[in-house]
Amino acid sequence: MAKPTFKANPIQVQVPATSANLGPGFDSFGLAFAMHDRYVAQILDEPGLDIDVTGEGADDVPRTDKNLLVKAMYKGFDYLGGKPKGVAIRALNVIPHGRGLGSSASAIVGGLVLARALVLTGTDKMSDEILLNLATEMEGHPDNVAAALFGGATVAWKDSVGGKSVAHSIQIPVDPRIKAMAFIPAGSLATNKARKMLPESIQFADAQRNSTNTALMMHALTIRPDLLFTATEDFLHQSYRQEAMAASFALMTKLRAAGVAAFISGAGPTVMALHTGDQEESEQLSRAGGAKFEGKSLEIAARGASLL
Ligand code: HSE
Repeated sequence: MAKPTFKANPIQVQVPATSANLGPGFDSFGLAFAMHDRYVAQILDEPGLDIDVTGEGADDVPRTDKNLLVKAMYKGFDYLGGKPKGVAIRALNVIPHGRGLGSSASAIVGGLVLARALVLTGTDKMSDEILLNLATEMEGHPDNVAAALFGGATVAWKDSVGGKSVAHSIQIPVDPRIKAMAFIPAGSLATNKARKMLPESIQFADAQRNSTNTALMMHALTIRPDLLFTATEDFLHQSYRQEAMAASFALMTKLRAAGVAAFISGAGPTVMALHTGDQEESEQLSRAGGAKFEGKSLEIAARGASLL
């Protein structure tokens, strides 16, 4: 591919937080929330990387080409024909890190969207489907990145085309009555650690109940929120991860005992609840996590990554 022509103007993108799995839809369901990280990038004439990060994770994330946002942007440039000499990048992070709210998916999708927007004819060369696949290669699974890219509720999957893994995603309409409440603990949990806790196989009866709930979830999210409580019950992964997030598991169990459609957000340790309560009920629910969890009401974001 010919070396790309870069645009001179700064490009700004916002990418939503996301919750994966939504109970039974392991590595498949995703939901985007109106809580966004913002990233700005501009091509420089002088060589090098000029990076600054503020907000969530600012004390921890690298200011080098090891930074996930930068890695994704460079991967995007490589796909489009080559990197520019220099680039300046600013990240204003709002999504908490390591809590199961899709901060890494946001950085990956943000970096790729920035690269695409900084290259003249970038959108012709990198479709959303290609971007989803580049993002999935980096993240390992498509659930969070699909919701971060497309917004709303998504079902993502991978299949094999000519021996190559290809990611796909569809958007499903969300009943406008559905609201989300996140219970965010102070501690974090690395996704790869949580993935190592999963079993090689599960009981047939659990597989049966899980596949029923996954199917039911499509209907519950779309037009029957009264079924969310049943549909969000998982038989595939959450219980195996309990040890790594005892307080979150206890909160989820307590909420479910009270009839709340609660589940572990992604690989945890945030607990997510979907509900249709009014403002007062929402405020009451937000206090259910006590001192160990920050109860945060989140609107569902219909749009995914957007240029500003
Ligand atoms: N589906 C993934 C998991 C989400 O539960 O491991 C991680 O973000």
